[in-house]
Amino acid sequence: MEKMYKTLFIGNEIIRLVEVDSTNNYAQKLVLEGAIEGCVVVADKQWEGKGQRGSFWESEDGKNLTFSVVLRPNFLVSEQFVLNKLVALGLLDLLADLGIKGVSIKWPNDIYIRNKKMAGILIENTVRGNQIKCTVVGIGLNVNQVNFSSNLFNPTSLGLELGKELDLEMVLNRLLFFMEKRYLLLKLGGVGLIDREYLGALYGLNVMRRYRVRDEVVSGKIKGIAKSGKLLMEIKEVVVELDLKEVVFFG
Ligand code: BTN
Repeated sequence: MEKMYKTLFIGNEIIRLVEVDSTNNYAQKLVLEGAIEGCVVVADKQWEGKGQRGSFWESEDGKNLTFSVVLRPNFLVSEQFVLNKLVALGLLDLLADLGIKGVSIKWPNDIYIRNKKMAGILIENTVRGNQIKCTVVGIGLNVNQVNFSSNLFNPTSLGLELGKELDLEMVLNRLLFFMEKRYLLLKLGGVGLIDREYLGALYGLNVMRRYRVRDEVVSGKIKGIAKSGKLLMEIKEVVVELDLKEVVFFG
């Protein structure tokens, strides 16, 4: 029996579904009904798992973690990207805890092991005025899947990296623990540390690489992240701010 990691509020209520369109959609409905902070929705199967940029999140039924967490952070909309950072760092904490090396964050929040994608995050905020009222943090983490469809670009899983099957409950429990730890750190004023650690793990930081930017292939160097969450990239000695739709990574 694996050791349980004790959380204060994230995961106190866990709703387990056999199947659903998307755990993010389900959690959004719970938010409208007044779901408490820390409520988690997990599903074995999603028919319409949502990825970034309107893509579909593929995951073999029952093999991986596909879940959403409800948070009520009360941040300003202008500060929202810090949520992406803390969730990505929570995933990195989990991978370190499991002894996985060679981890990086591909902006905004794809988790890579070397050049292979292990996890993706989709955060959806409910905004009132300039405040974030509620957040649904959706995470897709490949755990025990070993065969992937050919149209996915270079995926991997914890099981493939560690050479063994893992208990999904154990992985979920630890991930919720590390996310909560990061969230509490942020609430206690640890934003500087979160910013530094995120940058420290950012794929391509200060390295010249090729990207497709605004439909043109360019050589650029990632210089950091604007407060808004936009990517700062130096191209021909000028730093430009790019949003998700404007930049494509190669490899
Ligand atoms: C990405 O494109 O990298 C983000 C993928 C996020 C997928 C997760 S799976 C659980 C949650 N529910 C969804 O519909 N999407 C997120």
